[in-house]
Amino acid sequence: MSETQQSQIDEIHELELQYGVKDKIPEGINLFQGFSSGLNVFKNKTLNSAISFNVEELDKLFMSPELPFVGIPLGRTVELFGGFGSGKTQLCHQLCVNVQLPVSEGGVEKMAMYIDTEGTFSPTRIIQMSKSKNKDPTYILKNISVARVKSSDDQLKILDKIESILRDNNDKFGLIIIDSIIANLNAEYIGRAVLSEKQQILSNFLWRLKNIAEDYNLLVIITNQIRTNPNQYYGDATLHSGGNVVAHWASYRCYLRRSKQNKRVIRMVKSIYNDDNEAVFEITEGGII
Ligand code: GTP
Ligand code: MG
Repeated sequence: MSETQQSQIDEIHELELQYGVKDKIPEGINLFQGFSSGLNVFKNKTLNSAISFNVEELDKLFMSPELPFVGIPLGRTVELFGGFGSGKTQLCHQLCVNVQLPVSEGGVEKMAMYIDTEGTFSPTRIIQMSKSKNKDPTYILKNISVARVKSSDDQLKILDKIESILRDNNDKFGLIIIDSIIANLNAEYIGRAVLSEKQQILSNFLWRLKNIAEDYNLLVIITNQIRTNPNQYYGDATLHSGGNVVAHWASYRCYLRRSKQNKRVIRMVKSIYNDDNEAVFEITEGGII
């Protein structure tokens, strides 16, 4: 537990002592089923944890005065979008390793699920990243559940499986990656005539994913592609697939782009606190630095 986290918990205790907080509803009486008191929501947020990139600049993008920890908070949804080779898949791989690290090293000691729609999950990269952190690569690989999903139909069906795995393995998983959310849909739904059907499927998929993130208190990360708007000559001509459906869904939206050599720029375009901040990271043999 971090120092700030401890100090927030102490603050709650002090407030309770100072004001003599007493539950108005005795325990065991379920008058307001489905509701939590504001105090409990505050306590849960304080006691919650996060997955760190172990890269100060990247972690800073997700930091806020209200969150007493370093990294991306559990229970949230993140969209990583950018062009080919911008580093989306590499960040996902790194987080599959980091989620398993002990709290003192920025992890939450939990497993990861990787829904691979493009066939780009790389055990070799996981081995390299694990070694660079002095972790047993076989242990790390064992704790990543990978599913290769080749159609939008299977992508929807896998959600049932995910939910049943999570129900049976309460609290074992800390991270779900969908890399990418849109590849199958883009391949199957081509043209304007099927656009609304495509958006509906996407919307349903995302809505269920968001509930999973909240219900099982884990981090859900999706990757998304961008394309260029041929009708736009001024400003940023990039369009990202999925439009507003995806934009509203994510707690955090990060735009990635290539820079010099192995450097990448990541810009926070939507977050609770740090909109418009940028960070630079590098993709090395041992992972993200
Ligand atoms: P798309 O899936 O094509 O949209 O791209 P992406 O954003 O997922 O890109 P990805 O994360 O796959 O980044 C690819 C880049 O990562 C490559 O251009 C390399 O610079 C870097 N990379 C991939 N594998 C390695 C590796 O084994 N070692 C090092 N040093 N860099 C790697
Ligand atoms: Mg990729």
